[in-house]
Amino acid sequence: MSEISKETIVVLGYGWIGQANALALSQMGYEVSYFDIVEPTYKYADMYANEYENITKLGNVLEVDSPHTWYLICVGDRVPENGIQDISLIVRASETLRNAKGGVILRSTVLPQNLDKIRFDYYLPEFLHEKKAVEECINPFYFVVGVNSSKNEPKFFSDWKGRSYKSFLGSPKQASYIKYLSNAWNATRIAFVNEFGDIMEEPNSEKNVRQIEEVLDFVLGRKNYLKYGKGYGGHCLPKDMHALFTVHQNSKNVAILKGAHLSNLAHLELQKKYSLPEWYSIWVTDDAIAGAGGSRIKALWFKFNSTPSIQSKRRRLRFITNFLQSVFPDRNLRAEAKIWNKLATKNARYYVNPKTKSGEDVNEYELRDSGLVDYEKFIKNDPIINKVFANTKNVVVAHIGCGIGRMTEFIATNFKEVHALDISSKMIEQAQKRLGGFRNITYTVTDGVSLPYKNENFDFVFSYQVMQHLPNINVLKKYMADTFRTLKKGGIAKLHLRTGRGVYKWSKFYGVSMTKEEAIKLAEEAGFKVLACEDDKPKNIWLTLQK
Ligand SMILES: NC(=O)c1ccc[n+]([C@@H]2O[C@H](COP(=O)([O-])OP(=O)(O)OC[C@H]3O[C@@H](n4cnc5c(N)ncnc54)[C@H](O)[C@@H]3O)[C@@H](O)[C@H]2O)c1
Repeated sequence: MSEISKETIVVLGYGWIGQANALALSQMGYEVSYFDIVEPTYKYADMYANEYENITKLGNVLEVDSPHTWYLICVGDRVPENGIQDISLIVRASETLRNAKGGVILRSTVLPQNLDKIRFDYYLPEFLHEKKAVEECINPFYFVVGVNSSKNEPKFFSDWKGRSYKSFLGSPKQASYIKYLSNAWNATRIAFVNEFGDIMEEPNSEKNVRQIEEVLDFVLGRKNYLKYGKGYGGHCLPKDMHALFTVHQNSKNVAILKGAHLSNLAHLELQKKYSLPEWYSIWVTDDAIAGAGGSRIKALWFKFNSTPSIQSKRRRLRFITNFLQSVFPDRNLRAEAKIWNKLATKNARYYVNPKTKSGEDVNEYELRDSGLVDYEKFIKNDPIINKVFANTKNVVVAHIGCGIGRMTEFIATNFKEVHALDISSKMIEQAQKRLGGFRNITYTVTDGVSLPYKNENFDFVFSYQVMQHLPNINVLKKYMADTFRTLKKGGIAKLHLRTGRGVYKWSKFYGVSMTKEEAIKLAEEAGFKVLACEDDKPKNIWLTLQK
């Protein structure tokens, strides 16, 4: 035990794989901590709520660094539409370990062609299924090690290997091909069986589905991956198949791999029309069908609420909610900060922008993509901003409500300085971790009413999806006045405000709402010239103002 306890394990990237590894190793008796650039959402809390407490969160990746520390890189890759694997976040994470005294173990799925871009000592690809993740991590089916340095193996490898069904020791390239072979074999079998079933009958009735199954099961014996039903989805198989044939397609024959991928896509289209058997529950869960962030109960509630008869009754009963709202007290700003700190801890990536396709399951790549899209839409391609600031590299910006820096990153890339401000210290902490490499961003936690900066400090003040949460009109007035005070003469403010009926006052997302005319009046009273007031449907406007 004393030998074991000398080894400390740090998991880098605390998503599905990072958490499964941390929980498994902690249960196997090892000291485990983790570092992630955002606050994690707990993937296995249903089963392992207490076990999470044994895993220490690190504020800095090298906090427990020593020659006995082993870093497990569990950061995700992604495969965009062109099929070219993007490992930029994994490379970035491995670079943060450049000066580490400890050893580095790569667990992410990385193509053989990309391995030399990452610094690591051992490649240990992960084969688990999400639904059984922790159990499969404690007792792995495959234990595959690709050796990349002369550093002695960590002691916990032999323990892990002893629990596995099969083990392999070789080069990192071999380890990577084993990972891709395993996924490609599963995916190809699924695609083949489904394609065969689809040519037999249209699966539009239970009877037809049963007839398909009878034929397939007779020959294939209803084995795993060989049963007719839903196509493969989930986090791994689609992306790994796509990346595998794309990287080889110009030099090798990849007809079967590419075919399986395309066949599965065609079957997924069919799946949209018919309800197919779901024989292996890690693929396509109810949540994914319900859409972004939806649980089944939420989806049913939404359906109930949006039927026209219920809607019309709700309108007639509105006087009750109007009355309740008028007597319900305004939320104070300390409570507001508490709400946002809680949301930052619960799932910051989701709550800073609940609009991505993956909803609550949004990952770092998707978050960044959404930040770039909004940056381009609302700042880069804004004709007024382009006209007023010929060279943005001279422009000093205040970003009100920066959250975890979703858009701040792109403002900082294109402008001179960004002064990022948020009511939530927990959001700011994560923004600092995410955007650690930027030297031109300073962060401030605000009291929620003022901009704590000197007069005439900024050329540009920007705020998106933030003022919708201010508790009342007086706070908004104060922000307008401070925006005017801190802008230089001729400077621009672009502010996003809520119009129309907002959420109820007792909702945590409540915030002040006004008509377009009221918003313009407020801005003019603060001293601004209103350059533009545009709808951002359904319930918001953009005000572009000049001092
Ligand atoms: N999900 C699965 O079932 C499964 C199975 C086998 C293999 N894999 C592979 O494992 C890898 C990780 O997958 P996942 O599903 O756990 O991804 P994930 O997106 O759930 O988790 C990745 C985590 O890494 C964090 N991160 C990003 N940059 C970081 C940095 N510089 N420092 C610290 N943390 C950082 C992110 O914030 C995120 O929490 C992928 O390559 C995937 O293909 C996944």
